[in-house]
Amino acid sequence: MINDRPITYLDSAASSVPPRAVIEAMSRHYERRHANVHRGVYQTANESTHDYESAREAIARFINAPAGANEIVFTKNTTESINLLAKSWGAANLKAGDVVLVSEMEHHANIVPWFQLREALGIEVRFIPVGDDFRLDLTTIDELLEGVKLVSVTSMSNVLGTVNPIKDLAQIAHRHGALIAVDAAQSVGHSPTDVTELDVDFFAFSAHKMLGPTGLGIFWTRQEILADMPPFLGGGGMITDVSSTGYVPAKGPTRFEAGTPPIAEAAGLGAAVLYLEGLGMDNVHEHEHLLTEDALSRLETEFDGRIRVIGPRDTIARGGVISLDVEGVHAHDVAQVLDQFGVCVRPGHHCAKPLMKRFNLIATARASYGPYSLIQDTDVLLEALTDAVKLFG
Ligand code: ALA
Repeated sequence: MINDRPITYLDSAASSVPPRAVIEAMSRHYERRHANVHRGVYQTANESTHDYESAREAIARFINAPAGANEIVFTKNTTESINLLAKSWGAANLKAGDVVLVSEMEHHANIVPWFQLREALGIEVRFIPVGDDFRLDLTTIDELLEGVKLVSVTSMSNVLGTVNPIKDLAQIAHRHGALIAVDAAQSVGHSPTDVTELDVDFFAFSAHKMLGPTGLGIFWTRQEILADMPPFLGGGGMITDVSSTGYVPAKGPTRFEAGTPPIAEAAGLGAAVLYLEGLGMDNVHEHEHLLTEDALSRLETEFDGRIRVIGPRDTIARGGVISLDVEGVHAHDVAQVLDQFGVCVRPGHHCAKPLMKRFNLIATARASYGPYSLIQDTDVLLEALTDAVKLFG
């Protein structure tokens, strides 16, 4: 309950709510199976390693990684996965003058690491513009791709809900001799994912946005690329040998997993994958699609134009992220009124300042759905928005 009203959780784009199965998997891990991984020979150490490694297998299956678990690296979150890409693959493969092509709708996590690489190496960071229809403007994509070594784009905007044509972009990027990385934080928990079918090269996402725990991110790349990527962090667990003169890094994904990893979190992620597979990602997608269509049409008709949705109106290639601009009212004030109704939304720039600037906005109030969201959640949202409009009207 919040303010004597049941919680209406509409902030799944920030973090999803783990189901009991995920919480129980983590409790079971700590209560009965916890030990460090890849080290002990006693039974619980083996069970702990099993929890950790079976989560890697579950994720490989969930995204259809062509060479399976050997291609899955566990990180801290999507941000760290993209930093791993920039600081390991980028630093080893890019040089001054090379171009990384991102888009104007990226989260800062897919912009700042590239600016940092620009500072370190003198690469160029170029932006695909966003059109007035809130979609990538690909009219000049062939020109934009000149000199590009890597395209790094989001599969779904955390502000607009726009779902980008990743498979098409992969084809175009490859035709120009560039690789393609995807910030998939907002899509993996909401629609089916198949990296083999998409034919992409790098994929980054977070456990906590797909019903799993915080503190665990995923980085995927093809085995042959991974094999050539230098280690990102040094320490225990990422080597095959160390002497007083040097070290030999491990061959597989553990090369990027220095130190004790998030083991209980991996157990939770394994349970989240099973849970989502049980629901069926096509069903999750369809469910959220219906909620989004319903919300957009009610927002359009019930507020006399006083509330503008910052995102595509059509729901083809669009997810359940609904950013609202209420005429004359700051997003934080909107969110505060909504809080009185127990409605949880995120106000602010959503770590996407270039996108905000593109649409002359300082902030939006963002409602976002998850697999557990209900049409009743939208009812309460609209009730609360009606109050906000009246209050500030
Ligand atoms: N990236 C997350 C969001 O959009 C935190 O809210």
